[in-house]
Amino acid sequence: MSNFNRLVVSVLVASFMCTTEAAAATYNVITFGAKPDATMDATQPFLHAWVSACTSVQQSKIYVPKGRYLLKEVVFRGPCRNQIKVQIDGTLVAPSEYRDIGNSGYWILFIHVNRISIVSGTLDANGAGFWACRKSGKNCPVGARVRNLRIVAPYLSPNTDGIHVQSSTGVTITSSSIKTGDDCISIGPGTRNLWMEKIQCGPGHGVSIGSLGRDFNEAGVENVSLTHSVFSGSNNGLWVKTWARPSNGFKVDNPIIIDQNYCLDNQGCPSQGSGIKISSVSYENIQGTSATEMAMVFDCIPTNPCTDITLRDIKISSVNSRTKPKSYCKNIGGKTSGVILPDNCL
Ligand SMILES: *[C@@H]1O[C@H](CO)[C@@H](O)[C@H](O)[C@H]1NC(C)=O
Repeated sequence: MSNFNRLVVSVLVASFMCTTEAAAATYNVITFGAKPDATMDATQPFLHAWVSACTSVQQSKIYVPKGRYLLKEVVFRGPCRNQIKVQIDGTLVAPSEYRDIGNSGYWILFIHVNRISIVSGTLDANGAGFWACRKSGKNCPVGARVRNLRIVAPYLSPNTDGIHVQSSTGVTITSSSIKTGDDCISIGPGTRNLWMEKIQCGPGHGVSIGSLGRDFNEAGVENVSLTHSVFSGSNNGLWVKTWARPSNGFKVDNPIIIDQNYCLDNQGCPSQGSGIKISSVSYENIQGTSATEMAMVFDCIPTNPCTDITLRDIKISSVNSRTKPKSYCKNIGGKTSGVILPDNCL
């Protein structure tokens, strides 16, 4: 999703998939007057479809056919009488003038709604004007905030990241549970000041910075924070990969990993080394178990060593109590304090 920067979807609900669809009443937004050409404001037709679905005594489905639908800042309010499934085959488009969304902090808000599932669809947050404002350093509305999201994909789904952040400044992701087959959160080039808090990740490949350095001229990644988060059933925890695979474990295989020798399927890059410099990364107050004996891996390269790596109070034990977890450090510099288990090699 390219227009992520101004995308704010707050789902303040517990959601799950409807299983019994037979008796569902269907409300097609077109019959409520929405036009699928992104020129007419479809907010009122969507709200009317919502009211019908929300007051329906049977399970209901709101159907958004193919096409582009212009939605202004909108609140879908509950409580509702029954389960609602929103099936989106089209694209929801935000106003191109970002001030139309104002400072509310959201674009689409579901509130006091239980038992809703939102299936497929594309959200185009039309962020270009907003980015230009942020770039100019002017006083712009707050950046993207993603919270209370539940993302579920099968743990064997290939290349399915939960959330991807790229070319964005000031994004916050909080209180979200992400289960997927690839990275729970992947962080691409040009990400700055990203804050992640209360993330539950797993199954999945962890929270990954990278892969970076795929293109020669690429924006860097700066000031990324992750705190109060739990990884379980993810094969990496905090993963920095600069341009391995499979193994979907049910535990965290590599809780802490920096890999400057990342090469997908060993094609096109073996033994070329990474042009990306990794510095000033701090790991603090991390506890847990490692499913493999390598609890910490810092695999950096001599031509671009990892510098200023800080480790403080890290206790990673092995799932298998008979094996002692190990760490692997190559070409890294920095400092440690507090308890470090397994013994560090800094
Ligand atoms: C780093 O990002 C946080 C938000 O995640 C922000 O509050 C802080 O000011 C940023 N620090 C710098 C030096 O830009």
